[in-house]
Amino acid sequence: MTTERSLVLVKPDGFRRGLTGEVLRRIETKGYRLVALNILTPGTDLLAAHYAEHEGKPFYGKLMAFMSSGPVAAAVIEGEQCIAGFRSLAGPTDPTQAPPGSIRGDLGRDWGQGSVENIVHGSDSATSAGREIGLWFPRL
Ligand code: RTP
Ligand code: MG
Repeated sequence: MTTERSLVLVKPDGFRRGLTGEVLRRIETKGYRLVALNILTPGTDLLAAHYAEHEGKPFYGKLMAFMSSGPVAAAVIEGEQCIAGFRSLAGPTDPTQAPPGSIRGDLGRDWGQGSVENIVHGSDSATSAGREIGLWFPRL
């Protein structure tokens, strides 16, 4: 059984720019299923838990300010190897370096804000996915 679930976030930059539909279109066109969707402005507690691995890093403050700057679209997606598959769709973290064809490469850029605004989040492992889905969709 290789069916997986992953947590995807359309981050505040993507949501603000009206790119939620484009991100979901790419997920669905790839063949993954949408299991759950929610639009919310994440609070500090949720973000601190979500990004606990980055606490204390130099970019943590900017990251928290960016991620709480407006609504995000949170989604749970499902499909065989969708964790790695969505990371591949998203592309590398830095949108300037992310290749054309990827979500971050096609839709993201440096806006000179001092935070890395890169349109989407995707879980990076099965362990992370389970933990993150529990945080964002506790009733799932
Ligand atoms: P994500 O967790 O959001 O899917 O992104 P990722 O795995 O590609 O990158 P990660 O290393 O987990 O970093 C989480 C988010 O923090 C911001 N970041 N800023 N040097 C920096 O200024 C820096 N490094 C990371 C980005 O928004 C990144 O997506
Ligand atoms: Mg990450």
